[in-house]
Amino acid sequence: MKLNIWIVGAGGAGLDILYWVNDWRDTQDDNVVISGFVDNKYANKNTNMDRYGDTTQKLSIISTKSSMPGAKDRYICAFGFPKDKIRFSSVMLNKGASFITLVHPTSYVAGNSKISIGGVICPNAVIAPNVRVGKFTTIGIHASVGHDAIIGNYCEISPGARISGRVEVGDEVLIGSNAVILPGLKIGSGAVVGAGSVVIADVKSGETVLGNPSKVVWRKK
Ligand SMILES: CC(C)(COP(=O)(O)OP(=O)(O)OC[C@H]1O[C@@H](n2cnc3c(N)ncnc32)[C@H](O)[C@@H]1OP(=O)(O)O)[C@@H](O)C(=O)NCCC(=O)NCCS
Repeated sequence: MKLNIWIVGAGGAGLDILYWVNDWRDTQDDNVVISGFVDNKYANKNTNMDRYGDTTQKLSIISTKSSMPGAKDRYICAFGFPKDKIRFSSVMLNKGASFITLVHPTSYVAGNSKISIGGVICPNAVIAPNVRVGKFTTIGIHASVGHDAIIGNYCEISPGARISGRVEVGDEVLIGSNAVILPGLKIGSGAVVGAGSVVIADVKSGETVLGNPSKVVWRKK
């Protein structure tokens, strides 16, 4: 079967995903063609396509409005911020779009772990056994998620982050690059963990924590 992939978001994350999808399609039985991007911002201007390089196909950028999901179209969400993941995946889901789950061929996902629809496991990420990764959540390059951990929906786990075993992460959480979460901790929904932070205690919903050991610097009302 022929599948056309559309990357929702043509910014920095979209550029990354273009290359991850290009690697991934070689592992698929289907004939996967990368059609281009869906992005209202980039569709309306003369975007220099050189930025996207040569991935062997001619790519187009269309707006959410002009995107008409057909039976062979598959989508992947390419945004780093949880709010954008929700916003643009919802727009396309409401139009009937089907999303793929992208597990990069250089990543490791233990056989009994589950990655939900719209999830992206980036190059060299490691997902230990009995892990649950929620829908539209990205596990960044070289990040690791320890055994029995649960990661919610629409989360961004940035490059090199270390989520230890049994950690529970709520929905819409942003964990910065190289942050470390010690075993068994709970990170509430909507929380932000700053890059390089070492989290040694639970983080409540809506809190932003920074530093080593991390401290609460901001709390959503
Ligand atoms: C936590 C974070 C979201 C805060 O962003 P912000 O609200 O814009 O905060 P600011 O950059 O204005 O910094 C506020 C203060 O926190 C400090 N700070 C910011 N990030 C920090 C971090 N990761 N560790 C320690 N201190 C940090 C700043 O130095 C500043 O200190 P000051 O008030 O004494 O001047 C952001 O710094 C961060 O770490 N984001 C994650 C980025 C990332 O890893 N992205 C992945 C890219 S692929």
